[in-house]
Amino acid sequence: MYRSRLGKNLDEITLNYVSSMSDDSDIAFYDIIGSQAHTIMLYEKKLLTKTELKKILSALEDLKNGKISQPDFEPEDIHELIESLVIKKTGIDSGGKMHTARSRNDQVALDIRMKIRDDINILTQCLIETISELLHLAKQHHKTVVPLYTHLQQAQVGVFSHYLLSYADSLFRDLDRFISLYSRVNQSPLGAGPIGGTSLPIDRNSTAKMLGFTSLIENSIDATSTRDFVAEFVSDAAIMMTNLSKLSEDFIIWSSSEFSFIELSDNFSSPSSVMPQKKNPDILELTRGKTSQVIGYLTAILSTTKGLSSGYSRDLQQIKSAIWSTSKITITALIVIKSMLSEVTINEEKMKNVTENGFLIALDLAENLVLEKIPFRAAHGIVGNLVQYAHNSKKLLPELDISDIDTLSIKEIKSKKLFEIIQKTTISSSLKNRKSKGSSGISEQTRMLSNRIKSVLSYRKIIKKQNSEVKKSLDLLSKKVKTMIK
Ligand code: ARG
Repeated sequence: MYRSRLGKNLDEITLNYVSSMSDDSDIAFYDIIGSQAHTIMLYEKKLLTKTELKKILSALEDLKNGKISQPDFEPEDIHELIESLVIKKTGIDSGGKMHTARSRNDQVALDIRMKIRDDINILTQCLIETISELLHLAKQHHKTVVPLYTHLQQAQVGVFSHYLLSYADSLFRDLDRFISLYSRVNQSPLGAGPIGGTSLPIDRNSTAKMLGFTSLIENSIDATSTRDFVAEFVSDAAIMMTNLSKLSEDFIIWSSSEFSFIELSDNFSSPSSVMPQKKNPDILELTRGKTSQVIGYLTAILSTTKGLSSGYSRDLQQIKSAIWSTSKITITALIVIKSMLSEVTINEEKMKNVTENGFLIALDLAENLVLEKIPFRAAHGIVGNLVQYAHNSKKLLPELDISDIDTLSIKEIKSKKLFEIIQKTTISSSLKNRKSKGSSGISEQTRMLSNRIKSVLSYRKIIKKQNSEVKKSLDLLSKKVKTMIK
């Protein structure tokens, strides 16, 4: 339809090569309502008559309600398709005026922004639900003893809530990132034209308001050229996915027979085609795999945009599918992980046994020696020797008797005193005495948990407000359209 200067139509292979139709269904709705707002603004600015307005709006409304006739040519993209269908329905005298004072360049930027805006609203809602599930589980396990690992080697005694809260905190930061990005996405590029604006008397603020944007992306060159908000969205998504991927990795290890700290519900496990005993953590593995995919999309977007000159270039068409896939992957990952968490079985006994049968209270023991005025470096040496001795004699620290300790000829403290300190340094004393802010200590767990529960409530309010502001504007636009076409 746009090929007046070029004359000839493209052959089928070339048309398929340039077409974005297969990616455009995700923005069809936004293109229609964006066109409705634009048409109303043209009427308000006297660039359309009432009759023309009515005809265009009702043709768009039909499209919005799925009443789509076949175009009599193959369009290159959704923008061309919609405009051509409006013209087909209303005639060139009315429909031919719809594309006044805009370009596909500001149009596609508008559609992408509206799509990401909705996706952020869904994503943040899913994020808060996943966080709530982590908190729910943490509440049940604020006294569940677990071994904490560094280098995947047993490190310190902890509690399971502490672990879960660490992921809740990561996801809170992800949530923050999306919420902060929201204001940069929620800016209208409509009316920027192809790149330099228009000589016609349009009102960009009016379309922005009708479509629920809080401001304009003002500079018309910037508005049509930039995709930094896309890179930011996919980057935030990639970071969030790395958090889910890390959690998945932990759960994969912990669900192995060797660890059996947790058991996934059958609903979230997959069988083997050949080994009847298998219960594989496929959804967790897929979360890891899909994370790589999103990281790949980010790389694709950054490398597409880094070399572009200012102004729209067709390369930008290629990044759209990466956005849609990113949204789909991240939203479903959050839903699946949340449900997985709600059905996971925690094997408290196994976690406790592993903790008791190791040397995880070594640091707590050294710290108890520090309280006896022994320098930490010396205490570290003493406990290191005790652990080595116990390990070699296949004993646990509390199983050492005074004669065992005597053989180590420790200068800094009497064997009897050291024996008493070893006896009173237990898992429960350690967890009771650990008071440092943010630690595994029982009192800290209670404080941190109730603090996070409060945070959830305030984030819910922000998310609700974001959602309802868009909904309010779009409902208003829809009502306006209905009244105008009556
Ligand atoms: N199909 C294009 C895209 O997805 C729309 C913008 C086309 N603009 C242009 N000047 N060719 O990016």
